[in-house]
Amino acid sequence: MKKLIIANWKCNPETFKESVKILESLKKALSTNNKTIICPPNIFLRELISQYGDDFLFGAQNCYSEQKGAYTGEISPNMLTNSGVKYVILGHSERRSIFKEGDKEINMKIKKVLEETKLIPILCIGENRGERENSQTHEVIYRQLNECLKGVSAEQAKKIIVAYEPLWAIGTGIHADEEQIVDAKIHISSILCDIYAKEIVSKINIIYGGSVNSNSIEMIVNKCLMDGVLVGGASLDPVEFSKISAC
Ligand code: PGA
Repeated sequence: MKKLIIANWKCNPETFKESVKILESLKKALSTNNKTIICPPNIFLRELISQYGDDFLFGAQNCYSEQKGAYTGEISPNMLTNSGVKYVILGHSERRSIFKEGDKEINMKIKKVLEETKLIPILCIGENRGERENSQTHEVIYRQLNECLKGVSAEQAKKIIVAYEPLWAIGTGIHADEEQIVDAKIHISSILCDIYAKEIVSKINIIYGGSVNSNSIEMIVNKCLMDGVLVGGASLDPVEFSKISAC
């Protein structure tokens, strides 16, 4: 089955020229049957889609929970789809911790996206270091999934990608180990099975993110059987990212 290899460029690079350079190198280096999805900063999205829309799929790193109106600084789900964007990351831990987004807000965004657009939401969940050390991982995942998916129908849920991204693994160079990833995957599946029927849950992709690189990809997709990865830092390096995509 095709894996989802998602690049989260975050607030990088600083110029459009540099973003073209990354995609040019990636295009040359990439040899994969997997689905490669690039999530650049919003300002580059439209132009990159017009230049590379045949080579890659594109996603946004966030969106707002309303379609239009007096919401200074926000980008709506319709604006993204009207620009050719296919995916949107929602509830990334940096949105949660730096910009204080809560589960309720993330739930509103997910519902808007699913009710009114064809965008595929990539819902990020995961515990921080303190929560892991206090054995609260399961509790945190349970709360985040239940709150973020409140009011999402089975038909809508089928489209969602759930990204397990433990905060302590993001940008630290230390990825979760096999046991931790498998445990999270089983826990996520069982929570989803409490909410939706088994045949719906079997369609929901569950991926991993947090210091993914070419050394850990094999373990994540082949041993832990994750449906893909969300890659931050390593996605800005075309050689490294193409090795990850080749899994
Ligand atoms: P990282 O980021 O790969 O740099 O750890 C992952 C993410 O934040 O999605």
